Amino acid sequence: MHFSLFLSFSTAAMAALPTPIPPPAQALIRAGIASHQILIKGDSHYEARQASYWSNSAKIKPAAIYLPQNAQEVAFAVKTLAAVKQPFAVRSGGHTNWAGSNNIEGGITIDLSQLSAVTYNASAETADIGPGARWRDVYAELHKFKRAVAGGREGNVGVAGLILGGGNTFFTARRGFACDNVVAYEVVLADGRVINATKTQNPDLFVALKGGSNNFGIVTKFTMTAIPSDGVWGGMAFLPKAVTPQAIENVVSFTENVSKDPDSNLVAMFTHMPDFRDIVVATLYANMAGNFKPATFDKWLALPEIMNTVKNTTLKDMAFEYNIPAGLYDTWFTLTLKNDARILSKAAELHEKLVQDLIAIIPEQTFTTQCLFQPLPKLFAQNSIKAGGNVMGVERHSSDGVLWLATAMVETAEQEAKAYPLVKAWVEEVKKYAASLDGLLEWTYLNYADKSQDPLGSYGKENLRKIKAAADKYDPQGVFQKLVPGGFKISKAKF
Ligand SMILES: Cc1cc2nc3c(=O)[nH]c(=O)nc-3n(C[C@H](O)[C@H](O)[C@H](O)COP(=O)(O)OP(=O)(O)OC[C@H]3O[C@@H](n4cnc5c(N)ncnc54)[C@H](O)[C@@H]3O)c2cc1C
Ligand SMILES: *[C@@H]1O[C@H](CO)[C@@H](O)[C@H](O)[C@H]1NC(C)=O
Ligand SMILES: *[C@@H]1O[C@H](CO)[C@@H](O)[C@H](O)[C@H]1NC(C)=O
Ligand SMILES: *[C@@H]1O[C@H](CO)[C@@H](O)[C@H](O)[C@H]1NC(C)=O
Ligand SMILES: *[C@@H]1O[C@H](CO)[C@@H](O)[C@H](O)[C@H]1NC(C)=O
Repeated sequence: MHFSLFLSFSTAAMAALPTPIPPPAQALIRAGIASHQILIKGDSHYEARQASYWSNSAKIKPAAIYLPQNAQEVAFAVKTLAAVKQPFAVRSGGHTNWAGSNNIEGGITIDLSQLSAVTYNASAETADIGPGARWRDVYAELHKFKRAVAGGREGNVGVAGLILGGGNTFFTARRGFACDNVVAYEVVLADGRVINATKTQNPDLFVALKGGSNNFGIVTKFTMTAIPSDGVWGGMAFLPKAVTPQAIENVVSFTENVSKDPDSNLVAMFTHMPDFRDIVVATLYANMAGNFKPATFDKWLALPEIMNTVKNTTLKDMAFEYNIPAGLYDTWFTLTLKNDARILSKAAELHEKLVQDLIAIIPEQTFTTQCLFQPLPKLFAQNSIKAGGNVMGVERHSSDGVLWLATAMVETAEQEAKAYPLVKAWVEEVKKYAASLDGLLEWTYLNYADKSQDPLGSYGKENLRKIKAAADKYDPQGVFQKLVPGGFKISKAKF
């Protein structure tokens, strides 16, 4: 299926030739890479790939985008670019919101969208998944076999970034994070070798990849444990702002009780949305065993609702329905908080202030904010340990936590420039308050972190050493530190 998409790319790109090849891409052409796989500024397919980034904030402009078709082509390109010291970026789903994570101004972006195959292996009970696949396509394919994997909840998100940064999923209370569910990685190293990392082959790289992001090489295939999955109960509800105090109590008690019903999931946010022109409480409820209105949601379902879409459905359909709008300028920050109602209340109270401040700047109220809470009970990291462990260090937490995401999503770069410092100040204030109650848990979730945060630095010294040792061993020239500046780098993490 992705092959025919590629053909349409190549014919149109060829028709556009001869286009002058920008200097950064010349080494690729000289090495013999077909020019139709190299998209150049001004070409409509280049523009389409740029438009496919989730956040406008991330749409910086590479000199060229290279579309490899398989691991060997990725390897050849990496080797070629490393030999001429040409800076490059690695991009899968392109969902990281900040500029320079998954793209590179004036350099080469290796776009893995063509590596999107999904195959279920019934005898091994695993699924092979290409890094460029989107979660909705993964679930659609596996659903044919009544299977799923522990992946993203929003269907358009990319596979590779989510797994390499950890991955909070609907199955985390049963199976750990997405990275804990990977049994094999196929990895292209800086010297052009294609190797496997498993529990027994290159085990140091295997564990370092579980949270270590793009510090070692380019993952060209993930093999994940398949999970039996058929019907689920789930969807979203919207509740009036007036329920805020009960909603906070409910987040806290839901988090305390996750281990009693590990199939049930909650995401709860206070959010300003243009449609409502006010703050509402928006929730995502889901039970992965397909249990209808499980008791753990009783307190939630007793609250007054504006709207409710929760129903008997499938993971695949939920992934298609749950969509966070693309094409905005997005600021995201994250903290991990102790599961303490006082701290969550403070975050929600300061969110109301943020919304007032944003209304002063954007009176049309076309902006979206999120003050979003997700349970992070100790159970999650216990599952990670059971699965063999990762490098994120979440198991250090001595109490249940709440993963907090603080966002503002606006329509223009000018609005973003004004919103960013407001969000940052909000997060700083929550951080200070939480710290004053000994309520700050060490772990900055890489996939929600702003560029100014230091997620790797929050993993703990021992894990940092493991990541650094693997980076030094598998990439001794430091190609993924120096020539691939995007993402969170172990060479820049604070030890
Ligand atoms: C709408 C939305 C919903 C989300 N939902 C969830 C959720 O349910 N759970 C959750 O945990 N997170 C979620 N996230 C966060 C998400 O995990 C990150 O945005 C993640 O980076 C997305 O993966 P991607 O492949 O699209 O990333 P990209 O932005 O393409 O890549 C992210 C980073 O990984 C590197 N990278 C990409 N591919 C590779 C590769 N193959 N090998 C080596 N390095 C690579 C890139 O260089 C970049 O630094 C969500 C984000 C958005 C915007
Ligand atoms: C399925 O997995 C088994 C066990 O790991 C392996 O031997 C076999 O080659 C796999 N099948 C395919 C089609 O990849
Ligand atoms: C990696 O694993 C795959 C599938 O199991 C296998 O075909 C391949 O030969 C392995 N590669 C190396 C370098 O061991
Ligand atoms: C949903 O499925 C459950 C079985 O899990 C069933 O008891 C219930 O009646 C169904 N509800 C609806 C509205 O279809
Ligand atoms: C959650 O657990 C607490 C005690 O840990 C208990 O008081 C409460 O009733 C439980 N709530 C639900 C919804 O099960």
